[in-house]
Amino acid sequence: MAIAMKIAGHISRSSWIRRMFEEGERLRLEFGAENVYDFTLGNPDVEPPKAFYRELLALAQNPLPGMHRYMNNAGYAETRAAVAAKLAKDSGLNVTADHVIMTCGAGGALNAVLKTILNPGEEVIILAPYFVEYKFYIDNHGGVPVEVWTDHETFQLDIDAIEKALTSRTRAIIVCSPNNPTGVIYPAESLKRLGDILKDIHRRTGHLIYAISDEPYARIAFDGKHVPNIFPLVESSIIVTSHSKDLALPGERIGYLAANPRMDTVLQFMEGAVFSNRTLGFVNAPALMQRLVTKLQDESVDIADYQAKRDLLVSELTAMGFEMVRPDGAFYLFPKSPLKDDVEFVKLAQKHHILLVPGAGFGAPGFFRIAYCVDMKVIERSLPAWRALAREVGLKG
Ligand SMILES: Cc1ncc(COP(=O)(O)O)c(C=O)c1O
Repeated sequence: MAIAMKIAGHISRSSWIRRMFEEGERLRLEFGAENVYDFTLGNPDVEPPKAFYRELLALAQNPLPGMHRYMNNAGYAETRAAVAAKLAKDSGLNVTADHVIMTCGAGGALNAVLKTILNPGEEVIILAPYFVEYKFYIDNHGGVPVEVWTDHETFQLDIDAIEKALTSRTRAIIVCSPNNPTGVIYPAESLKRLGDILKDIHRRTGHLIYAISDEPYARIAFDGKHVPNIFPLVESSIIVTSHSKDLALPGERIGYLAANPRMDTVLQFMEGAVFSNRTLGFVNAPALMQRLVTKLQDESVDIADYQAKRDLLVSELTAMGFEMVRPDGAFYLFPKSPLKDDVEFVKLAQKHHILLVPGAGFGAPGFFRIAYCVDMKVIERSLPAWRALAREVGLKG
């Protein structure tokens, strides 16, 4: 075999995703792109904020000497200082540039963290429904994913279930808030409970378990809600994030990881993570993007735009008879599948030219995901198709 058996296995197990995309392409060719309602990808359709282009132009007109060279593997000191200042403000803690590494997106940050902390066979708890790449990232570094469900009705943290899943081999737990795919935000109280449990284990046994907070949607919160910063709540926490969603720059691969300054081993962790970022082959985060995001730590895309899309979809779909948790952030809905088999439901939706992802793709059969980071007109045009789909599965429509 030309490729490793493990990779061939991963590919064949996810081949239904490829088949779904192929079917989407076929529908677009046959019926025209405007008659296909594609809610599959978390790829923001909005453009970056104006400030991004302003800074880009300023830099292009006044290039800095050597600005395309390698730099310190952790990233530019001034960029890390700007990120640290924002984190210090949000957390109330003394976060400095020494606690921040610029990375190739949150995906790059997650891989750098996992490479740094995992010994072979150590367990990482992931919370279903979860971002599908977690399992592959954990496997990249010899870890073992352990799935724990969030509350089935609210998708909030089930702290008792998490506590039960902790073993002497647990090295980390990944939390994602606002969540992909459910859009829920975890309140400070439940993160604090988690932090107390981890701290107690550390104090009693010396066993350090990290909470990795994957938060690329942290600035996308609705109704004035606030996403609590994890640093004051969980001592052994590491933030991994990016500007893929909040500045709509997913193709530019710019993000960062930051470690809690309250961890007494924080500098050892940072030394390891700089090494991992380098030796994973990322070397450093893109130079130009680092320069730009230095100036953009208080910017974000228009949140009201996403909120309006959430409001429209939640009210229309609920009126049709679909059931879902009303999300507080990100740009996803995760309704219950009206058919027992979510893959069957997603196939049926394709017949109505609606493209969705089955919950099975997030470790959560029985649900489906709508990514509503699409033009409002696509959502509006899709509503008659949603009604027809709802009627076909026995809902009001
Ligand atoms: C929960 C979550 N984590 C991480 C990522 C990776 O994002 P990026 O590597 O573009 O920052 C994504 C992307 O969709 C995501 O939804």
